[in-house]
Amino acid sequence: MTHDPRLITALDLPSVAEAETMVGRIGAGCGFYKIGLQLLPIGGMELAARLKGGGYDVFLDFKLHDIPATVEKATRSIADARTGDLLTVHAEPPVMRAAAEGRSGSNLKILGVTVLTAYDDAMLAEMGYGMGARDLVMRRVDQAVEAGMDGVVASPLEAEAIRARVPSDFLIVTPGVRPAGADAGDQKRIATPADALKNGASHLVVGRPITGAQDPGAAAAAISAEMRGV
Ligand code: C5P
Repeated sequence: MTHDPRLITALDLPSVAEAETMVGRIGAGCGFYKIGLQLLPIGGMELAARLKGGGYDVFLDFKLHDIPATVEKATRSIADARTGDLLTVHAEPPVMRAAAEGRSGSNLKILGVTVLTAYDDAMLAEMGYGMGARDLVMRRVDQAVEAGMDGVVASPLEAEAIRARVPSDFLIVTPGVRPAGADAGDQKRIATPADALKNGASHLVVGRPITGAQDPGAAAAAISAEMRGV
């Protein structure tokens, strides 16, 4: 049984050595790995290069957010390194336009992070936004399409409304996925793998339900099997 190519395992682990051990334990259960800010400063890009060399797909979840000139140059550095298939930037129009410029001519796909799921309406008001999270997500989805992004990262509960307003090949990558009966942990807005896909997600990001399982390979294979049934 092979893995579902839409399943991405988040390697949220404290060291590259532990991440590589985890990839070995997952084995054939997953072919796509997410590397984030926890591993970036301690060998994350080198890990990404080794994973690419091993035939895996790699999602670099670095959430770039800086002045446009810096975002463009950072995106170009990452594209030139050829260690990633997906890269995240914050979904502000100048940031997204700069990232689109920086990756031009490469195969790197860019995803806009609409609104961090850790932010609620009160926090957005505190930051000066005049609209709630859901309205801001939809506004930024439209801006991501306009800026030439390949997709967005969003909650599985927002996927259906997003899918209705974007091109059919636009990626909707959803964390907050929990198999039925699994511990939600600190994720508040969750869906099962099957429901996330039915809602229009193109890829699912799953961390602890796989990496925290007694048998990560079996956990990943079970999620893949559920996904293939959709
Ligand atoms: O362990 P868990 O399945 O909750 O991991 C989800 C992954 O997705 C983590 O790496 C987390 O940082 C990331 N993520 C998220 N919510 C977002 C964006 C990213 O949970 N809005």
